[in-house]
Amino acid sequence: MSPIVVVLNGPNLNLLGKREPEIYGHETLADVEADCRRIGAELGLSIEFHQSNREYEIIEWIHGARDRAAGVVINPAAFTHTSVAILDALHTFAGPIIEVHISNVHKREAFRHHSFVSGVASGIIVGCGTQGYDLALRRIAKLIGAKKG
Ligand code: DQA
Repeated sequence: MSPIVVVLNGPNLNLLGKREPEIYGHETLADVEADCRRIGAELGLSIEFHQSNREYEIIEWIHGARDRAAGVVINPAAFTHTSVAILDALHTFAGPIIEVHISNVHKREAFRHHSFVSGVASGIIVGCGTQGYDLALRRIAKLIGAKKG
């Protein structure tokens, strides 16, 4: 069976493509999901892809990944800058975690410069657009030594 990688997306990312396209681009979250599935198949990974505007749902998906998934890719969106609860949940996950931000948060408002999640991430991909998800999956495949499909 292919190793599972859980790809999690936080609030407002359901509006990707429509929301501030000058910052986040024109690709929709459905496009990102399709790309993740295509790259997952190439890398021999089984992709579980979720988005929620609710913090508790993201926490539940992280708990669900424990003892089951090989890695987590997470764009916590605004929860990045606010959520100790998501940080604590990620601390319970033993495998690699890659944090992704579509925009370069360091070029933006000061409140986006701090991430609670970075303290538990194996790697962080920032400002590479939606290609960041592709890079994150490739990094996880490398870290877990996945066999190509
Ligand atoms: C984001 C950056 C966050 O600051 C913001 O709240 C988001 C998206 C990004 O992908 O660039 O919603 O995580």
